[in-house]
Amino acid sequence: MQRLTNRQILLGITGGIAAYKSAELTRQLRAAGAEVRIVMTPAATEFITPLTLQALSGNPVHLHLLDAEAEAGMGHIELAKWADLVLIAPASADFMARLANGQGNDLLTTLCLATEAPICLAPAMNQAMWRDSATQLNAAKLTERGVKLFGPGVGEQACGDNGPGRMLEPVELAQLTAEQFDTGLLTGKTVYITAGPTREPLDPVRYISNHSSGKMGYALAESAVDAGARVKLISGPVNLAAPARLQRVMVQTAEEMLAASLDGLDDCDIFIASAAVADYRPTAVAEQKIKKGAEEIMELHLVKNPDIVATVANQADKPFTVGFAAETRDVIEYARSKLDRKNLDMIVANDVSRSEIGFNSDENAVTVVSRQAEIELPQTSKRQLAGQLIRLIAEQYRQRSGR
Ligand code: C5P
Repeated sequence: MQRLTNRQILLGITGGIAAYKSAELTRQLRAAGAEVRIVMTPAATEFITPLTLQALSGNPVHLHLLDAEAEAGMGHIELAKWADLVLIAPASADFMARLANGQGNDLLTTLCLATEAPICLAPAMNQAMWRDSATQLNAAKLTERGVKLFGPGVGEQACGDNGPGRMLEPVELAQLTAEQFDTGLLTGKTVYITAGPTREPLDPVRYISNHSSGKMGYALAESAVDAGARVKLISGPVNLAAPARLQRVMVQTAEEMLAASLDGLDDCDIFIASAAVADYRPTAVAEQKIKKGAEEIMELHLVKNPDIVATVANQADKPFTVGFAAETRDVIEYARSKLDRKNLDMIVANDVSRSEIGFNSDENAVTVVSRQAEIELPQTSKRQLAGQLIRLIAEQYRQRSGR
């Protein structure tokens, strides 16, 4: 199971004997690639020590709502925003009651109120407590509000009883957590994504390139994988590790990127061009290192590179094709004209004159332009944005292909 790569999971632990299993759960989540931060209620610390969980999660454990030191590190609102998913395991009857009533009387309930991430609970309690009508009412209220319940399982309990109320095993909880990210929007579809810069050599040691980090393209590739797609990530030189469960093809030049893009294109359903392709390359690559001469001015002769996304979009049986437009002014107008000129189905426009977003930054804000609509996606992390973009692309792809 690899589906939690780079996912940020906030694990809440409440007071119950099953809290000892949260140590193994933390290990399982991390083994699946997640980053884990832990919040414990005071009762949970009676069952397992914060130190154990700190060591296993690799992060300090959050214990109190009004703790000046912790707030200075990562405040509770920041923590609520940080989470891609909140998992509370074990979730005690008392915690479920407080959450169902919208209380914010400790750090964990406050985080649940403040977060926009999905919340999942793994109830764990005595079978009679689980069957009690108050708990059942709370469970129903929570489910109605969109909170997911993982379990509980049925079986032997710590107190000697037998029945429903056992916390699911850590391996099952990690699997269920991972499944929350698999939206299935692109199940069975093949998606090609170009990412990063290209590098156009001048001689054996020099090249022309740009500052693209590849972060947006890599985030899109991960989101497409999560949505169930088969992904080929065609990447220029970047400092990013290959995401799991996809095929990565590393290239250097625009011509290599074009060749990798056309390779197997018949099977491609959606093509996303997020690469910052060099518009020009040197007409010739010197075989030996170019020597410094006496002249003050040196002229370079450049030739236009092929337009990869336009080439793809002009194939007879073209995939649903998405381009990017990085502009410094008149962003939407330029994006619209690019949409038409390159025969694209959708273009993602961003204003690169804003220094806090775009190139090399972890955040971005874009406007998605298609023939039918113009949709603004406000500033957020490139990972969140990638999820939103993949959802939009999947919707419009389905509309276009009538599926
Ligand atoms: O024309 P411009 O470079 O502004 O267009 C940007 C879009 O076109 C991006 O999606 C980029 O990946 C793609 N592109 C390309 N091949 C080129 C130049 C741009 O695929 N040679």
